[in-house]
Amino acid sequence: MTKSTLIDRYGPTALVTGASDGIGRAFAVQLAEQGFDLILVARREEVLQDMAADIGSRFDVSVRVLAMDLSDRASVTDLLAQTEAAPVGLVVAAAGFGSVGAFHDQDAGSEINMVDLNCRAVVALSHGFARRMVAQNRGGIVLFGSLVGFSGAPMSATYAATKGFVQGFAEGIAAELRPHGVDVLSVAPGPVGTGFASRAGMQMGQAATPDIVARASLAALGRRTTVRPGVLAKGLGWSLAMLPRWGRVRVMGVIMKGMVRKGG
Ligand SMILES: NC(=O)c1ccc[n+]([C@@H]2O[C@H](COP(=O)([O-])OP(=O)(O)OC[C@H]3O[C@@H](n4cnc5c(N)ncnc54)[C@H](OP(=O)(O)O)[C@@H]3O)[C@@H](O)[C@H]2O)c1
Repeated sequence: MTKSTLIDRYGPTALVTGASDGIGRAFAVQLAEQGFDLILVARREEVLQDMAADIGSRFDVSVRVLAMDLSDRASVTDLLAQTEAAPVGLVVAAAGFGSVGAFHDQDAGSEINMVDLNCRAVVALSHGFARRMVAQNRGGIVLFGSLVGFSGAPMSATYAATKGFVQGFAEGIAAELRPHGVDVLSVAPGPVGTGFASRAGMQMGQAATPDIVARASLAALGRRTTVRPGVLAKGLGWSLAMLPRWGRVRVMGVIMKGMVRKGG
C-alpha cells in the first residue's frame, strides 16, 4: 500500500498503545511521517510528552498523550471515553510484556497482569474501536502476536499463551470485520531489538529492528491477516510450521531455555 493510500484509508488519526518505546514508538514515528495525527498511550507520561514535542517539531501533525496503565480494568473504558470524539481510523495495540523462566518460579501477580495487558486490554480496546470503525465502514486494527504464539513455549508459557490468544483473536475478527471495511493485522515477529528482552529477563541473539517491524506491518495492513517481519520470524516460523505441534513445543522449549538471561 502506498503512503497516500494508508492515510486515505485509515486517516486522519492513529492511536498507538505502547508508544513510549520499542515497536510502538517506531509505528508512531512512521505514522507521523505519513501525516497521521497521533494519540500516544503508555504509562510513562513524561516520555510520551517528550515524544509528542519531538514529533510535533518534525512533522505537521497533532499529537495527544494519554498516560495510563492498560492492565488496569478501568483504563480502556477511560481511554474509549476520552477518544469518543476523535476521528481514530487506525489502532496499533503494541503495549505488552513477557517473561522467561519456569512458570512456577514466576511471580503469580505479574503473570496474571501480563494476561490482563496482553489479552484483556486488547479485547476491550479492539471491541470499542471495532464498533466505531464498523459504523464508519472503514478502519484498521494492528495487534501483536509473536513467533512464540503458534504453539506452547516451555520457559515462556504464559507469554506464549497470551500471544497465541491474540493470534487466534486477530484471525477471527479479521474475517468478521473485513466485510465492514475494517482491516485487522496480527504482527508476529521473532526477536526484536527493544527494551522488551531485558524487561522480560531474556537475552536475544539476532534481532530485527523496530523500524523494520513497523514498516513491514504497515505494508501488510489491508493485504494479509498475519505478517512475520524479519528474516528470523519468516525462516524459523516456516520451519516450525512443518513440525507436528508436539515437535514445535519441544523446539520452542530449547529456544526459550537459551534465552533465559544468565544470572537473571
Ligand atoms: N521485542 C520482541 O522481541 C517482540 C517479539 C514479538 C512480539 N513482541 C510484541 O510486540 C509488542 C511491543 O513490544 P516491544 O518490543 O516494543 O516492547 P517494549 O519495548 O518493552 O515496549 C512496550 C511498550 O508497552 C508499554 N507498556 C507496558 N506495560 C504497559 C501497561 N501496563 N500499560 C500501558 N502501556 C504499557 C511500555 O510503555 P510504559 O512503560 O511507558 O508503559 C512500552 O511503550 C508487545 O506486545 C510484544 O509482546 C515483541
